[in-house]
Amino acid sequence: MNIILLGPPGAGKGTQAHRLVAERGMVQLSTGDMLRAARTSGTEMGNKVADIMDKGGLVTDEIVIGLIAEQLDAGAGESGIIFDGFPRTLAQADALTQLLDAKGKKLDVVVEMKVDDEALVQRVIGRFTCGNCGAVYHDVTKPTSKEGVCDKCGSTDFNRRSDDNEDSMRTRLMTYYRETSPLIGYYYAHGKLNSIDGLGEIEAVASRVAKALEV
Ligand code: AP5
Ligand code: ZN
Repeated sequence: MNIILLGPPGAGKGTQAHRLVAERGMVQLSTGDMLRAARTSGTEMGNKVADIMDKGGLVTDEIVIGLIAEQLDAGAGESGIIFDGFPRTLAQADALTQLLDAKGKKLDVVVEMKVDDEALVQRVIGRFTCGNCGAVYHDVTKPTSKEGVCDKCGSTDFNRRSDDNEDSMRTRLMTYYRETSPLIGYYYAHGKLNSIDGLGEIEAVASRVAKALEV
């Protein structure tokens, strides 16, 4: 099954995607992760997008559609794909339909995760990730069991994202409402939308996601 996790920054898309990967063997395609990897390895594209990302704007459709096309061409996702953070514009949504069609694949469901703005800001400001395995934590709601040690891999190397500050987050939210929220109506009109409450314990949200996938 191929799904989109749609929601504002900090809605929990990455957290829930990691669970689906572990539980169902699906593949997570996160354009945010791909762009950050390009920045870390210092590619020309990575350098070009760094400033836009740090300020909370959107990278061009051409770049992100290209990243997703590459993954699909490489055969990603025979046991199902989770699109995380893509599409983010109507042009990206149209491109995704065409890319999937060309591979004989279809989109099964779009899970919209709803969370209010203040909770989103708190979540993003407290977020940190394991530098080795990518596990996502939060200072308050999901700390590591042993301070400074990743529960999943034992690494002591953690990262905080350069766009996880209040200023950038406010811009990311505005960008979401302006550019990405029209996709809610778009997918509703296509009969694909299933909206869930993204507030509450991570486990409770996971149950709602699982229910939303029963289509
Ligand atoms: P991207 O990496 O996609 O970031 P985002 O959409 O802003 O989403 P986040 O990763 O911030 O949040 P999330 O929903 O995954 O939340 P998480 O699970 O981590 O994009 C970054 C940038 O790249 C963009 O701004 C843009 O510039 C560019 N970009 C990417 N894709 C693009 C595209 N398609 N087009 C153009 N530009 C693009 O959770 C957040 C925190 O909350 C964590 O600490 C977590 O532990 C905690 N948490 C999660 N669930 C809960 C819960 N239920 N209760 C309490 N805490 C929780
Ligand atoms: Zn780890």
